[in-house]
Amino acid sequence: ERAVALARAIPKAELHIHIEGSLEPELIFALAQRNGVALPYASVEALRAAYAFTDLQSFLDIYYAGASVLLKEADFYDMAWAYFLRAKADHVIRAELFFDPQTHTARGVPMATVIQGLARACADAREKLGISAALILCFLRHLSEEDAAATLEAALPYREHFIGVGLDSSEVGHPPEKFIHVFARCRELGLRVVAHAGEEGPPDYIWEALELLQAERIDHGVRCLEDPVLVAELARRRTPLTVCPLSNLKLCVVDDLADHPMKQLLDAGLCATVNSDDPAYFGGYLNDNFEQTVRALALTEAEVITLAKNSFEASFVSDAERAALL
Ligand code: ADE
Ligand code: ZN
Repeated sequence: ERAVALARAIPKAELHIHIEGSLEPELIFALAQRNGVALPYASVEALRAAYAFTDLQSFLDIYYAGASVLLKEADFYDMAWAYFLRAKADHVIRAELFFDPQTHTARGVPMATVIQGLARACADAREKLGISAALILCFLRHLSEEDAAATLEAALPYREHFIGVGLDSSEVGHPPEKFIHVFARCRELGLRVVAHAGEEGPPDYIWEALELLQAERIDHGVRCLEDPVLVAELARRRTPLTVCPLSNLKLCVVDDLADHPMKQLLDAGLCATVNSDDPAYFGGYLNDNFEQTVRALALTEAEVITLAKNSFEASFVSDAERAALL
C-alpha cells in the first residue's frame, strides 16, 4: 500500500502516450456533434462496449475510427488539453506526446491544423499547469516509406513544434528496416528518434530499431526478454523501454498483469518506464498503470522510485530543463 501511495504521488515523466489514444468516448461524441461527423455507434456506452480487443489490429481499427472526429485546430487542442488535465492529476511534470499526422492528413486535415492545435495545448500545459510538454511525430508503419517521407516534408515548416519522430501502428509485417532512409534523414535534421518494437513483433525488430534506425528509446520492447543477448545490449547501452502495462493486458500481449514482464525488466537492470499508451482505450491513465502494476507484481517502494527516476533519465528534456524540473 505504501508503494502504491508513493507511485501515485511521485513526480514522473510520461513518454509513451498517443494523444489520439487519450480521446475519451464522451469527447468523441461531443466532437462528432460539433463537426457534423456521423459515428457508427449509437451512444457513448455502445462505443465503450466496443473496446474489447484481441490484439493490436483489433484496437487500431477502432482507434483510427475514433480519430475521424478530429477536423479543426480546436479539436486537437481540446483533446490534448483534456489529457494534460489528467496528467496533472497524476503528478506528471514532463510529457512527450506521440501524434499520428497521417491519420489526419489522409482525411484532408492540413498538417498545420494538427500541429498548431497540439502545440498550443503544449504551450498552455507549461504556462497554466507547469507541465513540460513536447511532441513526437509518428510514422504509420503500415503505410509506405515514401508516405512517411512526404509526411516529414509536410511537417518541416513546423519543425520547431516537435522534438522527434517515432514509428507506430501495425507492427508484424512492417519491420523497422522498411523505414531506414526516412529515419536517416530525421537524424540528419537533428530529430530525436524512437520506435515501437517488440510489442507483438519479435526481438529481431528491436535489433533493427537499434541498429538500422538508431532508435534512442524502444517503445514497448517487452519481447526483448526472449533474447538474452539483446537484453544485455539494451542494458549496456541503457536504451530505455517505454513499457505500457495496461495496454499489454488489453491487447493480450500478456494474459494477466501478474505475468507482466516489468519486474523481470527491472531485475535485468534495464531502464524500463511505465506509460499509458492509449489511456482512453485501455482502462487508465498513468497512475492507474502504476497502481495496478505495483499491486500485481508487488513492486517495492525502491522499485517505484527507480521507475520514476528512469522516466526522467529516458526523457528528452535538455540538461538545463532537467535541472529546472528536478
Ligand atoms: N498506435 C497507438 N497505440 C499503439 C500501439 N500500442 N502500438 C502500435 N501503434 C499504436
Ligand atoms: Zn504505443
